[in-house]
Amino acid sequence: MEERKKISAAVIRRLPRYYRYLGELIESDVQRISSKELSAKMKVTASQIRQDLNNFGGFGQQGYGYNVKYLYDEIGKILGIDREHSMIIIGAGNLGQAIVNYADFAKRGFVIKGVFDNNPALEGKEVRGFKVQMMDQVADFIKENQIEIAALTIPKKVAREVGAVVVDAGVKAIWNFAHTDLNLPEDIIVENVHLSESLMQLSYTIANRAEGK
Ligand code: NAI
Repeated sequence: MEERKKISAAVIRRLPRYYRYLGELIESDVQRISSKELSAKMKVTASQIRQDLNNFGGFGQQGYGYNVKYLYDEIGKILGIDREHSMIIIGAGNLGQAIVNYADFAKRGFVIKGVFDNNPALEGKEVRGFKVQMMDQVADFIKENQIEIAALTIPKKVAREVGAVVVDAGVKAIWNFAHTDLNLPEDIIVENVHLSESLMQLSYTIANRAEGK
């Protein structure tokens, strides 16, 4: 990967999907696949697949196709999920608890280490074996456990303030569900999640299909 050129954001956005499909192929004991077969499975053109994967020096071989496990591992490395990322969840409400309850993030290397809230009524409440801790413990916890990512599932009016606290304590990245900009230093990585945008995309597709387009 040393001579890696700059990969466009559009390609990076497609990689998790490749990764997921390749993971399914591995589970079904498929060892190699052509870009044509992968294309039929993923409903992406074969030339798009070749172009995307050529960004990484092209893992395919003429007449052989792609070695599924190798490609899977390489994409995993590019996405940085070949190693563990420690994560805490801040806000143990509906969404925070749903994330904690979804055990499969750990399979992708995202390991939840703790759950925090500022509502004393939730202190000690167990969510999938995690006891909800209070916010006065969060800074020490981040330092002691070298937490890399904080997921913010809290109301937007407190998100900036809480974001600053976790960043001060050493968090490097924020998975932000609160619908607001966090205004953090530039070296802090922020991934904003908006499920409603995904739904709007869905509604657009429904509307276009209804019109027979
Ligand atoms: P909720 O009200 O069930 O949970 C919010 C939790 O945050 C509560 O337990 C509350 O005690 C805690 N909290 C409030 N202030 C805090 C602070 N200063 N420090 C620590 N914890 C604090 O709300 P829900 O439904 O779980 O939603 C959480 C957030 O996620 C909201 O901002 C909501 O708008 C957003 N959301 C975003 C979605 C997205 O796609 N981005 C989808 C669904 C919700």
